[in-house]
Amino acid sequence: MTKDFIVTKEHRRFAEFATAVRKEQTIGICHGDAGVGKTQSARRYAHWDTLGPFIAEWGPRTEDDATHYAAANRSRTVFYTPEVLPRHKDLMREIEHLRMRLGICVDEHQRNIGKVTGSRAVDMTRWIELLIIDEAERLTPTALELLRDQHDRHQLAIILIGMPGIDQRFRHYPQLYSRLGFSHRYRALGREELLFVLDRHWKRLGRILDPDDFTDAQAIAAIERITRGNFRLLERLFPQIARVLRINQLETITDDVIEAAASILVIGD
Ligand SMILES: Nc1ncnc2c1ncn2[C@@H]1O[C@H](COP(=O)(O)OP(=O)(O)OP(=O)(O)O)[C@@H](O)[C@H]1O
Ligand SMILES: [Mg+2]
Repeated sequence: MTKDFIVTKEHRRFAEFATAVRKEQTIGICHGDAGVGKTQSARRYAHWDTLGPFIAEWGPRTEDDATHYAAANRSRTVFYTPEVLPRHKDLMREIEHLRMRLGICVDEHQRNIGKVTGSRAVDMTRWIELLIIDEAERLTPTALELLRDQHDRHQLAIILIGMPGIDQRFRHYPQLYSRLGFSHRYRALGREELLFVLDRHWKRLGRILDPDDFTDAQAIAAIERITRGNFRLLERLFPQIARVLRINQLETITDDVIEAAASILVIGD
């Protein structure tokens, strides 16, 4: 997924939000509709597509290690997705484990650049500044309380990612709520960015998008109406568009093609 990642304005806004939460050592909530790109942004911020597998494998050392250590040092962020119905002990143990392993990576980097010398006996988790929890609605009140405790003890900044309304849910937990520093709404793609993304999709299908062309303009309008700038819907729509073109041996992506492609997908209102 990393190679296709598009640095959108929403992603940049997310990165600014995450950096602010981290700097202020506070707790932040990020909420937005399903499929707008919250998870992808958070993983990108944490370099999790590379660091996640790296710390999970924890294999023999290789020449690439220094690159991973440097990435860990830059982000100092653990990305975590709780299971459905997580058990509290497992949840906290897994998070601790990730903080420790990532902390070791940061420590290695600090040693590589000569900032840290001497024995390794200290607590490695102290290097980790931010914990991002995806699918935060899976957390029970007890889990939230345990995380708040971690935040208090270690000044660990936390971002909870969830669907719209999650911020309202947290109102019921005054201890957590009173510590919330920022609430961030992750929005769907705006028109300009939708055009940018569509341009790439058109190219992928071997065509050139021209918003001034009548047919293309109608196609764009149809996509805008159907997807409302939702990344996931866009990603699901395009394989179907390719299919409709192929089956009907068509050359041009018209609004009819798009309607036909959309009719195959289950898209709720
Ligand atoms: N910046 C991006 N660049 C390219 N593709 C993206 C980007 N963001 C999202 N996508 C695409 O959109 C899909 C949905 O994104 P993502 O899983 O991050 O949404 P989400 O907001 O976390 O949704 P949910 O609330 O359902 O978890 C991704 O699988 C990916 O195909
Ligand atoms: Mg998600």
